[in-house]
Amino acid sequence: MDNIVILTGAGISAESGLKTFRAEDGLWEDHPVEEVATPEGFARDPDLVQRFYDERRAQVLAASPNPAHEALGRLDREWNGELLIVTQNIDNLHESGGAQRVLHMHGEALSAWCRACDARHRWEASLRDGPPCPACGNAAMRPDIVWFGEMPYQMDRIFGALAGAELFVSIGTSGAVYPAAGFVQQAREHGARTLELNFERSAGSGFFDETRLGAASALVPEWVDEVLAG
Ligand code: APR
Repeated sequence: MDNIVILTGAGISAESGLKTFRAEDGLWEDHPVEEVATPEGFARDPDLVQRFYDERRAQVLAASPNPAHEALGRLDREWNGELLIVTQNIDNLHESGGAQRVLHMHGEALSAWCRACDARHRWEASLRDGPPCPACGNAAMRPDIVWFGEMPYQMDRIFGALAGAELFVSIGTSGAVYPAAGFVQQAREHGARTLELNFERSAGSGFFDETRLGAASALVPEWVDEVLAG
């Protein structure tokens, strides 16, 4: 076995203090999704949406990786086979935990995207007051986030990786949002073994060969030890 694809969701960052989406005190409890996470919501009230993502950006900057991110960082360093960590998360905790083979399918909190010239910039400050794009000077930057109704990033690369995966591991995701929720079935169809690591059973648990329940900070380091031990 030398080809692993990992899908991560908000659950892997919960123990770093970042809220998940669908918990009772989750992000979508406080905010109607249509208002803050759709292109229509942004067109209607850009200030509200910029404020929402300014807050996300500040929280991401203040957060630190937990043992689950660090374990995946170790896996990335020590695993000589193929590996791709596809994350739905917009935080940068995989990278600060030492992982490099990371793909952000839903965009990144610390990135700004200029709608005038299409440039992307690493961004830590507020976008609320319409700062000029460093490339073209227009005040046309939006959060570099994939909203509902928009196409997730790099789907061709993801499907290519899933087609070659021998092991597919899903960590900390509720399986509620497609296309990510369908990755387990795609990996299975191509013959991969499938493993789920999550706090509770998810919408997709029935599709996995094995589900382990618990906190990511405990389950992920254990699993990485197993894989690296062969
Ligand atoms: N360890 C492991 N799993 C956890 C932990 C933890 N410490 N804490 C919570 N979880 C699990 C929850 O039980 C839940 O099943 O993580 C999952 C988080 O689910 P969601 O909140 O739905 O987050 P996610 O699956 O990442 O959402 C997918 O929906 O709106 C969006 O674009 C947003 O990328 C996000 C997408």
